[in-house]
Amino acid sequence: MCGIVAYTGYREAYPVLLKGLKRLEYRGYDSAGIALLNGDLNVYKKKGKVSDLESHLKETQLHSTIGVGHTRWATHGQPNDVNAHPHYSFNKRLAIIHNGIIENYNVLKQDLTNKGYQFLSETDSEVLVHFIEDVQANSNCSLEEAIRLALHQVVGAYAIVVISKDHPDTLFAARKGSPLVIGVGKGEHFLASDATPIIEYTSDVIYLDDLEIAVITKDKVSIKSLDDVLTTPYVHTLEMELEAIEKNGFDHFMLKEIFEQPKSVKDSMRGRVNAAKGHLLLGGLRDYLNKLVHAQRVVILGCGTSWHAGLVAEYLFEEFARIPVEVEYASEFRYRNPIINEGDVVIAISQSGETADTLAAIELAKSKGAIIFGVCNVVGSSIPRATHAGAYTHAGPEIGVASTKAFTAQVTVLSMMAIIVARAKGTITESQYQELLVEFENIPAKIQRILDKHAQIEYIADIFKDARNFLFLGRGYNFPVALEGALKLKEISYIHAEGYPAAEMKHGPIALIDEEMPVVFIATRDSSYEKIISNIQEVRARKGRVIVVATEGDALVEKMAEFVIEIPHTHEALVPLLSVIPLQILSYHIAVMRGCNVDQPRNLAKSVTVE
Ligand code: F6R
Repeated sequence: MCGIVAYTGYREAYPVLLKGLKRLEYRGYDSAGIALLNGDLNVYKKKGKVSDLESHLKETQLHSTIGVGHTRWATHGQPNDVNAHPHYSFNKRLAIIHNGIIENYNVLKQDLTNKGYQFLSETDSEVLVHFIEDVQANSNCSLEEAIRLALHQVVGAYAIVVISKDHPDTLFAARKGSPLVIGVGKGEHFLASDATPIIEYTSDVIYLDDLEIAVITKDKVSIKSLDDVLTTPYVHTLEMELEAIEKNGFDHFMLKEIFEQPKSVKDSMRGRVNAAKGHLLLGGLRDYLNKLVHAQRVVILGCGTSWHAGLVAEYLFEEFARIPVEVEYASEFRYRNPIINEGDVVIAISQSGETADTLAAIELAKSKGAIIFGVCNVVGSSIPRATHAGAYTHAGPEIGVASTKAFTAQVTVLSMMAIIVARAKGTITESQYQELLVEFENIPAKIQRILDKHAQIEYIADIFKDARNFLFLGRGYNFPVALEGALKLKEISYIHAEGYPAAEMKHGPIALIDEEMPVVFIATRDSSYEKIISNIQEVRARKGRVIVVATEGDALVEKMAEFVIEIPHTHEALVPLLSVIPLQILSYHIAVMRGCNVDQPRNLAKSVTVE
């Protein structure tokens, strides 16, 4: 949420910042702005997309080798030019960009107002930069010291970069709860919310830790804790390829990411599954396998799509490893007084690794003595660093705001975990184990076969693109897939959609069925097949329009449904890896046909770093 980019070095800063903001735009797209320092400290900002800022600045001379940029997802104050970042301090000698929420900004603002400070915007961020100015004036200290003293009094989450007229070659950055990555070049340094704006210049990065302040010039990075203790930064080498963050000929990142799934699922399994040798390994699990084998209970935490992946994992862990599972919305868990007993293991799932609610839920579970295992996609992000152990999903950067390949990668890793634990516990037979390994290896090719039916799904999308509502129904492993299908459709096409366990329909939602209601059934040939066939009949009897995701060659469904999307047969436990694909494609096309911005749906941001 909110993207931050900054540069100091020998290049023209503006093009670096602009390109960086475009790469970070998935984090927020309400407004964008930059500040450039070249004798004067100039701030330029505009409501709307980064491209609006770019057009606005077309005729402006923007020479500087140091600057900061921001793309905003509004929290305090409407999206408009004034609330856009950067914000000047009161004397205009400082400017700040901020990602996060300063919770006590009202108290600080009142104090500053009493001292005569005036504010232009409604944002908490402007309060922070005025506050830093005030602390420096009162303490007669260096800017670094003033930032440190100010941050000690701040309640909330932040990643900030401060640029100062009095320090023409220096960037000051700090973080608590919101990510910041420093790119280390030769004679230049970069700063960003994630590595995507950095990788075309350098693959050497330093992840700033919580409660650290970095002072960065073109030649030097010095990092201290908020308690003024110098730290020795560790330089990581990124493995990300530039190609992974480009659209590569696809119209949208979402479509590219849907089509990447044969590869991304394979990448999630690479070096981990080998059916011929009977191997299934997750390096990160090794030291904690015993904890899971003896777990009395598994608690799974996540939000949105990651929570849906958690629901699939509930079925997997219960069926194969025979461990009771509870799947919790991280946002609810963190504000309850949840019971964590000795012998409970917590699994936290997150694509970004930065979701504020999931991070807070992890901290709470840790404080109650739980062992936390992370399943994350973004390497080096906050959640993997907060957990005891974990496995990366290795899906590659996901840029489309609607999660697609991250879901299938999460389900892949969680399935592997459940099966490893089950085997160690002896709760599955060797033949079940071997059958699952073989089927894992078949999944990428089967996903490809569904992608090849893309045009058929696009045709169905055209027929239903004007629907006002949609229902998605599934049972067993396909129930979480129904939820995910509904979430995909509503978030990118703004059509109201609900996912339900198919049998629950008759307890309420059936009242919604009429000749205008499209109902998507996920009715693959598995243990609940007969039951869901009855549910399809119930909808047909009420003239609902039935679309079915079915197993290839299902003649019965063919007769009953208005439209059938066939998927290859697989092991029942791995069905979600296939049945979700047509739903992603359907949502994508409906959204495009309705003229929606699928990569940047309204009001959303990719990485939800505020609660
Ligand atoms: C939906 C979507 C969101 C995320 C949720 C959690 O398409 O992308 O619902 O799944 O915000 O994000 P992560 O997985 O990054 O913790």
